[in-house]
Amino acid sequence: MIYKNFITFEGGEGSGKSTQIKLLKKKLSLYGDVILTREPGGSKGAEDIRKLLVKGDPKKWSGLTEVLLNYAARNDHIENIILHNLKKKHFVISDRYSDSTIIYQGYGRGVNIRLINRLDKLITNNLKPFITILLDIKPEVGIKRSLTRKNTELRYEQMPLKYHKKINSSFLKMAKKNKNRFLIVDANLSRN
Ligand code: TMP
Repeated sequence: MIYKNFITFEGGEGSGKSTQIKLLKKKLSLYGDVILTREPGGSKGAEDIRKLLVKGDPKKWSGLTEVLLNYAARNDHIENIILHNLKKKHFVISDRYSDSTIIYQGYGRGVNIRLINRLDKLITNNLKPFITILLDIKPEVGIKRSLTRKNTELRYEQMPLKYHKKINSSFLKMAKKNKNRFLIVDANLSRN
């Protein structure tokens, strides 16, 4: 199912998604209500699950466990936030969605991508964004940016640079393969 009012942002750590999301919200507000949300998280239950994923020892979960936690969170997020707002014709802008699971757990941690796709169909009922904006950032630049922020959610930042390079190149490959949905934006420059 594709709702034209469903927009997602994707990208590596420190790619400046939240800044760009706020700018887009300002523009879209001229045309209707805009709901900003994020994954993992976005609903109360999903925010509880987020805490398990983004804090603590990088090695505490296997890739498959991360997939299952992310889909438990996504299910709650879709049920409680995404779907009814889309049906009300509000714009829903989500900071990350299913593409992040394919990239971080599939390409990044080696979880079977067909399994993720099957689970995705089951949980999301094929709910896909109409547009995905990929903020393309060199991992060296992004991780540095992310670490200079006041941030306690550092589990992924502590993963090796090699992992983040894989994330970045996989996102780019995915975006180039799905040009009808993705818009790639160079996020290496500073804000000013
Ligand atoms: P954030 O820092 O952009 O808010 O995202 C939190 C982290 O969660 C980020 O490092 C990417 C990771 N993540 C996954 O590994 N799989 C997923 O499915 C999602 C949504 C996020």
